[in-house]
Order: sequence, then structure tokens, then C-alpha cells
Amino acid sequence: MRALSWPNQSVKGQVTATIHQMITCSAPGKVYLFGEHAVVYGQPAIACAVERRVFTSVKLLASGEITVSAMGKIQNCHSTEFRYICQAVQTFKKRTKNDFGAEITIKSELPPSQGLGSSAAVTVSTIKALSECLGIGLRDQEIAGMGHQVEHAIQGRASPADTFVSATGGVVFIEGTKTSHLMHPDVPIIIGATGITRSTGDVINSVARMKRDYPEIINNIMSTIGDITRLGERKLIGGDINNVGELMNINQGLLESIGVGDIMLDKLIYRARDEGALGAKMTGAGRGGCMFAIAREGNVNAIAEALAREGAQVFITAFSNAGLRVE
Ligand code: PMV
Repeated sequence: MRALSWPNQSVKGQVTATIHQMITCSAPGKVYLFGEHAVVYGQPAIACAVERRVFTSVKLLASGEITVSAMGKIQNCHSTEFRYICQAVQTFKKRTKNDFGAEITIKSELPPSQGLGSSAAVTVSTIKALSECLGIGLRDQEIAGMGHQVEHAIQGRASPADTFVSATGGVVFIEGTKTSHLMHPDVPIIIGATGITRSTGDVINSVARMKRDYPEIINNIMSTIGDITRLGERKLIGGDINNVGELMNINQGLLESIGVGDIMLDKLIYRARDEGALGAKMTGAGRGGCMFAIAREGNVNAIAEALAREGAQVFITAFSNAGLRVE
């Protein structure tokens, strides 16, 4: 492993690079239009980047220490906090065979651990910022792959969907290693955050337990979610947004059946539908976290107000084509 002797301006070995002292990169959060959980078992999913982002600033340090400052706390990587960021640094060091110290500062427009892909966004934006700082120029797809390794190492199981969509942006149909970008639907998104946080790994494990106990039933549910995703892809391509909304609602019912629902999520989902949402479902691991609705412009305010009345933190946002970005 090459130690960078700061402020030396070159990296020894095959990469000769310009080192930047400080860089900020950002990556978007995402919602799952269809297919979370089923995607962990090889079914397709459609995940969409949204216009809310995580910003990661990296400043290289002469000392070998990594410090992380986020959510009003400062820690080094010997603590158990900020596991995604510290694992991202480790993965980056191993892949690029560099050793260095860095001060990493996170600013986020996403509520953490609530299904909007904040972990994926923080992971890929950290790798991108390190890559830019050291002048290594990793491609966004490579960063997505490294981000997936990070999520896998921390969660035990993870699909490549979150890190891929955060790295590349847009609306992504993902099935195994196959990915394709679709046109994004031109409708607003209303997100309701319950404020209930949970570990993605724990929820994934509880689904794995159900799958072990009732394989015939859970395998069928997963494959039906896969069918919904495939049909959803065709409806998106055809611009049939009413059908997309209805398929979201069907997908929600099946997520309920695998035990990842929550009473507050349900209330928000039904309020949104009552106020005219085309479709409303949870996003991400579930058991709290966020739901979102898609709606015609004329219904957006009524939905947002109804969700706020139920005590949700509400974000009105849109689908976004932008993935990783150097700020
Ligand atoms: O809650 P999130 O944003 O971590 O999303 C988890 C989505 C799962 O399908 C449950 C897991 C995965 O890695 O795809």
C-alpha cells in the first residue's frame, strides 16, 4: 500500500495524479418505485434518484487518521459510528492501494436510515470525493460497485440497486447485474418520513427468516413483486402513469405481507391515497422510514398537508437524472 506523503503532489506507482487538498462531491437519495426486498433475492427492481442529496467534503491530512464529522458529531474510524463512511474509506484504500488520512464532513438533505438511500449516497459520495481528491478518476459505475461491496460488508446482504442509482442517477431498472435507465415519469413526488429509524440489515434478516420458514409462500410473493416490477417497467415506458400508481399500491400490499409494514407508514399511505395520490407505498427496508406518493400537480399540496397533519416530515421533490456530482 502506498502512503501519501502530504504535501507531496504525486502518487507513486502506476497512478500519477494531481492531489487536491479538498473536494466536495454529492450523490442523490432514491425511492423504490417497485421491488425492494425482492431485489435481494434476484428479482428486478426500479429505483429512482430524487432531487435531495448528500454532500461529502474530503480534506486530505498529513496524519494517517480518518475523522468524520456528521449530524453534529465528530468521530474517528476506531469508533462504531459512521460505519458506511469508514468502510467506504477502507474499500477505497484497498482498491486503489493508497494510504492516507482525511477529514470527512457530511451534510445531508436526507433523513438517515429511513429508506431514502442515505447510506448508499454517503458511501458513493465518499468514494467519489476520495477519488477526485487523489486524482484517480474512478468511473461512476466502478464507484457503484465498490459502494455495493461496502453495503454488503455492513448489512450482510444487499442488492446493487441503491448504490447504482445513487451513483448514476435517473430511473433504473435493475435485475442481477443488468441495469438500464428509463425515462423518468414527469410527476411530483411527495415523501412522508415517519421519523422511525431501523437497521436495514435487521429488516432484511427478518424477511430471510420468513423465507426460511415459509419458502413456498415467500418465494411466490417475491416472484409476484418481480412481475409487478416488469409490468411497471412497461407502463413507465408507455407513459401510463395511472397504471404505475396502481402497481405501486399492489406492491405495497405484498410488502405488508412479508412483515415490513408499520402502522404510521400505513396511515400516511392511506391519507395520501385519500387525497388523490396516483399511487403510494413505502420505500426501502420499511418498518418505519419513509413512504412516498406520486400525484398530479393539483393534488400535491392537499397530500403534503394531510401527511404533515399525521405528524410526518414532508418533502415535495421530483425524480432526478443527476447521479454523482463534483460540487
Ligand atoms: O432502506 P434502504 O434505503 O437501505 O433500502 C433497502 C432496500 C432493500 O431492498 C431492502 C435492501 C437492498 O439492498 O436492496
